[in-house]
Formats: sequence, C-alpha cells, structure tokens
Amino acid sequence: MKFDVSRFFEKDRKERIDIVAKFANLTEQERQTLEGSGGISFEQADKMVENAIGTFSFPLGIATNFTINKKEYLIPMVIEEPSVIAAASKAAKIAKMRGGFEMQNDESYSIGQIQVVNVDVESAMQKILKSSKEILDLANSKSNTLSKIGKGAKEISCKEIKTDAGPMLIVELLIDVGDAMGANVTNTMCEGIAPLIEKITNGKVILRILSNYSTRRMVRGTATFEKEAVGGQETVDNIIMAYQFAAYDEYRAVTHNKGIMNGIIAVANATGQDTRAIEAAAHAYASKNGRYTSLTQWDKDNDGNLVGRIEIPMSVGIVGGIINVHPTAKICTKILGVQSASELACIIGAAGLAQNFSALRALASEGIQKGHMRLHARNIAAAAGATNDQIDTLVKKMTSEGNISINRAREILGEL
Ligand code: MEV
Repeated sequence: MKFDVSRFFEKDRKERIDIVAKFANLTEQERQTLEGSGGISFEQADKMVENAIGTFSFPLGIATNFTINKKEYLIPMVIEEPSVIAAASKAAKIAKMRGGFEMQNDESYSIGQIQVVNVDVESAMQKILKSSKEILDLANSKSNTLSKIGKGAKEISCKEIKTDAGPMLIVELLIDVGDAMGANVTNTMCEGIAPLIEKITNGKVILRILSNYSTRRMVRGTATFEKEAVGGQETVDNIIMAYQFAAYDEYRAVTHNKGIMNGIIAVANATGQDTRAIEAAAHAYASKNGRYTSLTQWDKDNDGNLVGRIEIPMSVGIVGGIINVHPTAKICTKILGVQSASELACIIGAAGLAQNFSALRALASEGIQKGHMRLHARNIAAAAGATNDQIDTLVKKMTSEGNISINRAREILGEL
C-alpha cells in the first residue's frame, strides 16, 4: 500500500503521528506513547543504572523517502543536531529516483575473546583445536534460547599475539547471535568455557569478553544519485574530490565519518542500540589498513551519475536489551517494520550513506552553514517568544539581515 508522506515536514505533530501510525499500524496505546513524553519511567531508569536521579529526553523525528532493497521505510531518528533528519530525507529522495539503497548484511556472528597466558602457544593451539567440539558444546549449553533456534557458538579459532609481556594465546569464539546484539550471551559463553580452556591448555585465562570489532557482522551497500538531482556534473565531480580528500587525509576522514555516524547513531538511538559499540567498531574498521580513512567511497557511473558505497561493521539487535524495556525504542522498531537484526543493520547502513551524501553535497556546493543557520534562526525565533505564525517572518528577516540573535528577534517581534 502507498502512503502519502509528501511534505511531511510541513505537517503538524498530530498529522505526522497520524501518517506514522497508519504506515506502521500502531495501536492506540503506541500512539499515546508517542504523543506523551515517550520515555522510560524513573522506576525503569533506576533499575537500569546506578545512582539514578531522573531521565533525559532527545528529539525523535522521522526521515522520509527511504527505499532500501525495494522496500519503503519511514526511519525514526533520535538526535539533537539540526539538519540531520532533513538531510537524510533529501538524500533518500534523490536515491529513490534510481531505486533507492541496495544493502546486504553478513551473518550475525559475534566474536568472544579468551586471553590465555603462561602457555606454550603452539601446542596449546593444537589442543584447543582438537577439543573444539567439546568447547562449542559447553558454550552452547550456556544458552538454551540460541541452541533451540539453531544458532549459538559455531566456530573456535586461535591466534598468537606477541606482547611486551610475552606471547599470548587468544582463543576466539564465533557465535551466531541471530536477532540479538548478543553481548551478554557472548560474555556468558566466554566465561563459561574459560575453566575448560585453562584445563586443556594448562595456561591461565585472564580476560573473557566480547570483541566489539564486529567484522563478522558487516553491512555494505550502494546507491546512485542522478547527476541532475545532485546539482549537475560539476557538483558530482566536486563531491568525488571531497571524498578523495577524506580518503587521503585523516583529519578530513574523521569529520567525514562523523557525518556518516550522524545518520547511523540517530537510527541506533531510536531503536535502542548500543551506540558506543557501533562507533568503536566503525572507527576501528576505518583504520583496517593501518591508516584511518573514509567509511564510504564515491565515484561516478558512465553517465556521470554519483555512486556511493558504504561498508561498516554493524552489531545491532531487535530482541533483548533496552528494546525490551524502552517503550519508544519498541515503537520505533515497529515503525521500521523490521523482521530481523540483519534488516535493521541494512537500514542503519543506508542512513549512514544518505547522511554522508547530503553532507558532501552541501559542503561541495553552498556549504552547510546556510541550512544550519535557517534552523538556528527558527530556534532563536521560538526562544524569543515568536508564535508558530510569526516564526517564518522572523527567520526570513534575520537570515536576510545576517543577524541571527535573540535581541534582534525580540526587536522584530516588537515591530510586528
Ligand atoms: C556535521 O555534524 C557533520 C559534517 O561536518 C560532516 C562532514 O563534514 O562530512 C557536515
């Protein structure tokens, strides 16, 4: 079924919620949750962290126009920064002209690490590999849920690292965590098999912990942006030059990737993901060849259209964790209509690519301040006490004068 989400930004809050509720078949209660404060109660917060004194809320918006793997999405984004949601929607609108984003996701293998010291690494490795079935069985006995659905610990591998404190054996447990983010089950399994690893190797285990470098949970994808819609061949060429700058300069690459993370983290926040895990893995992956570089690549096709690619580790879940607790994270996941963690990973990757496109397009043409200042002016106008009807007039006047300040907003208000 097609939904009319055109000019979503011009609608009022109720109309926007109506569209989203219809799109995602939200229940009356879910609607009310969105209309209310949308957050967790203090009692819930008090169970989540120590020394709680309250809760803290952020804006939740909807990025429109996304087509990913031929499916239409409304994408919830939780972010404090202006322009991000508009930029994602705009990029998605242009990408849609060429069919949208084509994304793929690896299997959902989480990696657990067990550090073994005081061992003869070579012979310990042989022993571990010989006993791998016994180790995997023990690991799988720690999670009935995963085993029941055919997931769970699948592979064991060993590596030697040479350190200042001598050689160490690192045993890695690969666990198919299905639709969960899987940190807990990974840590439980690692701790569960550690005594057996000590027995087999005659060594001493120190750390038993998940690696957030989720290289067995990669998401990758592409989108084509029509040259005319981008702003013409010169803008396409400038965007490619801007990408080359990020590809070859760490100082630029960090900012370039920060823009990608604006899209990624906004969706991750909305769906209750561990955003630190995503960030840590992304930046490690950006340095995988020994030099920090861009997480995206930009080029043009034979007709001069802009083609973007992204490849990034993405460890996300749609069951367990905060998603079981946070009412709005649950609703946001329902708005996305995702059936699997892998589908969510594809959406998040597409949001990152979209965000990067819009940032590069603005930077390679008019710059980003114009858009930012328009939004800033809106905030200033509202803070000065302008009503909804007055805001546009104030914004226009302040931006044309190049004087966006609370004092000028108050003066204009006085004249109206
Ligand atoms: C601002 O939050 C993000 C940008 O700086 C990203 C970029 O420079 O590519 C616009």
